[in-house]
Amino acid sequence: MTYIRSEIIGHGHYTPKKVLTNDDMAKIVDTNDEWITTRTGIKARCVVETEVNSDLSYKAAMMAIKNANISAEDIDLVVLATVTPDYTTPATAIKVANMLGVKSGTPAFDLSAACSGFVYALTMADNMVRLGQIKTALVIGAETLSKITDWTDRNTCVLFGDGAGAVVIRACEGKGDATDTGILASKIYSDGAHFDNLRTTGGVSVSQNAGFVMMDGKEVFKYAIGALAQGAEEAMKIAGITAEDIDFLLPHQANIRIIEGVGKKLELPEEKVIVNIAGHGNTSAASIPLALSEKMEDSTIKKGDLVVLTSMGAGFTWGGIVVRI
Ligand code: ACO
Repeated sequence: MTYIRSEIIGHGHYTPKKVLTNDDMAKIVDTNDEWITTRTGIKARCVVETEVNSDLSYKAAMMAIKNANISAEDIDLVVLATVTPDYTTPATAIKVANMLGVKSGTPAFDLSAACSGFVYALTMADNMVRLGQIKTALVIGAETLSKITDWTDRNTCVLFGDGAGAVVIRACEGKGDATDTGILASKIYSDGAHFDNLRTTGGVSVSQNAGFVMMDGKEVFKYAIGALAQGAEEAMKIAGITAEDIDFLLPHQANIRIIEGVGKKLELPEEKVIVNIAGHGNTSAASIPLALSEKMEDSTIKKGDLVVLTSMGAGFTWGGIVVRI
């Protein structure tokens, strides 16, 4: 019996040209390179000047479409994971679809699950592919977090960056086991008991503005390693594999100490854990597709590799995906 899977056939990413190093941050708030590097692993982050979310999304998506060797007209669904859309409404995904030349009538929507946004979005798109509702989907994670950053708060402003990543997935046939190509399993979670540990200070309905990111860093830190490990472990269990089978773990890039903690919890050697936080900081929903695309582009991640994506973010939300490239 054949089994429908979603295969990643294209990847893309884009970051704004303006880079703020830790030394630049030290001119904005009372901080220094040593503190930021040792506590977070971040050395620099990209921030937008005149560009908006749809610009970043468009550029990452264009690269993914070219890389997939398809035309925008082949796309049956556009999902954009973000907490920093261009406008409150309509969805930025719809604007991006139009910019790309996606055919009229194609469903497009934004998805809000904070740093887990891309894992949620890829799960939704994969489910639609496997149900036979669509063949080809463009899944984007894009953020302009610099627009919801309080640039006077050293506790948060050093952590975040702007950027976008995208993948094109397409239906393919498999056998239904872990040797298949494509998404083998996914598992997503949320728990609103932690709503106030990491959120914005306001929002449309509450304050008629977007607010700024605020968080209880210690609470987030405590929860993150367990949640990231759970997302990975449960997705691996569904796929019928163990950590020993995987080529790479790609965790959400929040903090090097969290990333290393998850790697240790899953007993993975350092070289199997993807890290790109030094140059980007935490780009929320963009973090996983940005790292995935960078590492596929430089051939660190190759065709046939078994990769586990795992994320955790505001909500809290978390989840994992097992994918054979
Ligand atoms: N530069 C210099 N000093 C700073 C800075 C800064 N940028 N920020 C805070 N400090 C100070 C604090 O004021 C405090 O000083 P005090 O002792 O005089 O009061 C001191 O550094 C220690 O602060 P802590 O909060 O104890 O530092 P900690 O080791 O917990 O690290 C951090 C803080 C990096 C935020 C950590 O808690 C963390 O990584 N939490 C996870 C949060 C995270 O990654 N959030 C991202 C979004 S969530 C997600 O993506 C999963």
